[in-house]
Amino acid sequence: MKIAIIGTGYVGLTTAVVLSYLNHDVAAVDKDENKLTLLHTRKSPIHEPGIQKLLDEVWHTIRFTPSVSEVVPEAELVLIAVGTPPKQNGEADTRHVEQAAREVAQVCLPNRHYTLVVKSTVPIGTNQRVVEVVEEVFSERGIRGNISVASNPEFLQEGLALQGAFYPDRIVVGANSDKAVDTLRRLYQPILEQTFDPPTEFPRPSSYHLPPMMTTDPNSAEMIKYAANTFLALKISFINEIAGLCEEVAADVTEVARGIGLDARIGHLFLRAGLGWGGSCYPKDTAALLGVAAQSAYDMPITEAARTVNFRQRERIVEKLRDTLGMLKAKTIGVLGLAFKPNTDDIREAPALDIIRELLSEGAIVRAHDPIAIANARRALSEEHEMDNRLYFIEDVYELSYDTDALVLVTEWEPYHKLELRRLAKHMKTAILIDGRNVYSPEEARDAGFHYIGVGRV
Ligand code: UGA
Repeated sequence: MKIAIIGTGYVGLTTAVVLSYLNHDVAAVDKDENKLTLLHTRKSPIHEPGIQKLLDEVWHTIRFTPSVSEVVPEAELVLIAVGTPPKQNGEADTRHVEQAAREVAQVCLPNRHYTLVVKSTVPIGTNQRVVEVVEEVFSERGIRGNISVASNPEFLQEGLALQGAFYPDRIVVGANSDKAVDTLRRLYQPILEQTFDPPTEFPRPSSYHLPPMMTTDPNSAEMIKYAANTFLALKISFINEIAGLCEEVAADVTEVARGIGLDARIGHLFLRAGLGWGGSCYPKDTAALLGVAAQSAYDMPITEAARTVNFRQRERIVEKLRDTLGMLKAKTIGVLGLAFKPNTDDIREAPALDIIRELLSEGAIVRAHDPIAIANARRALSEEHEMDNRLYFIEDVYELSYDTDALVLVTEWEPYHKLELRRLAKHMKTAILIDGRNVYSPEEARDAGFHYIGVGRV
């Protein structure tokens, strides 16, 4: 199938290479010259395990271009995967989605049918707005175009994006047109029936079952995306709230999570207590959902509380440092992990950044490490003038630990699971480990000489 994808961010690029791997004829459009320069030299602009290799593999078939008019007229299906950044008030800004729809309608041929699919995460009602935009352009052009609009939300997780794209739990399609549903069913047929040869790095999990394609109306599809992210966000906030109480009553939240997770109705996933969620999705999508609710003057206290608990986790970790070290002024704190989660260089809404900002504002000296996100964090923090010469990025964890007053483990990167704790403790001024992701067991850390403080366990 001939496909045009507008936007080559996480969602757009992942979708492009995966659909190309599945033998579709894919052209991806992006206006960002820097991204295109990288893509034209066969380099992935995003850090995502496996994406570079897959891009190499499909290189001879996939196309990247800045021009909608070059690829849309001949496409059968057009996917919109552009950003929906937050506005000042938290609502999602759908300007880029509408602009993409407008550009598509401007260049599509009057005598051809197109399926226009919105993959971006958008407020409820956006598909309807896209239909209106397309109609407006058709009337400006004085043509009777033929575009079916559908919603097809994306559920990929950064760091696991390709795995999720090849082996999704479900595919959700919201459409009022049978033609659009049929086109999307053909598009995803290799995934729905698992008829493709898996890439070497992404073998089909033995327990994997064929995914359902759920069809519904566009508003419900848009709501499914927000509701799914908000539910996962509040599941994490719930266990973090329980973790706080575990600390008060000397219970162990990892045991509690294990115990409740064994109930099939609860499930064990997304019950890891720690520093809570960051990234480009939960913070933005929970705020956007509240924005949608506000427009209907509808209160969502559960969603509000999930956000409050989440951001409180960042403050609590600094409180734990204060409780242990006293004043933080002139104390040297090592921060392990800057990315919002492992296997990505994405630092958007990362807990580490807020923690570093707070430490610096209290006069501490910060030494920070991350396996791959240092450059992004340096860029983000150096734009803030108060980030003076008390912030250092250090490439080696053992060097970083030298003479520090405490270490805070913020992101549970794989290399941080295998640290030589004794060696670290020996180098430090005071061997304090604040384990924001419960990577180590308290006994193990204490045996190595650390004063250990985790989340939700004593
Ligand atoms: C999330 C959803 O998982 C995807 O399904 C969705 O498609 C995506 O948002 C999106 O809307 O684009 P992502 O933000 O990449 O994906 O990351 P997650 O793996 O869900 O983790 C989010 C945050 O929750 C991370 O900061 C992680 O450290 C934290 N987390 C996760 C916990 O604190 N505890 C857990 O048990 C699980």
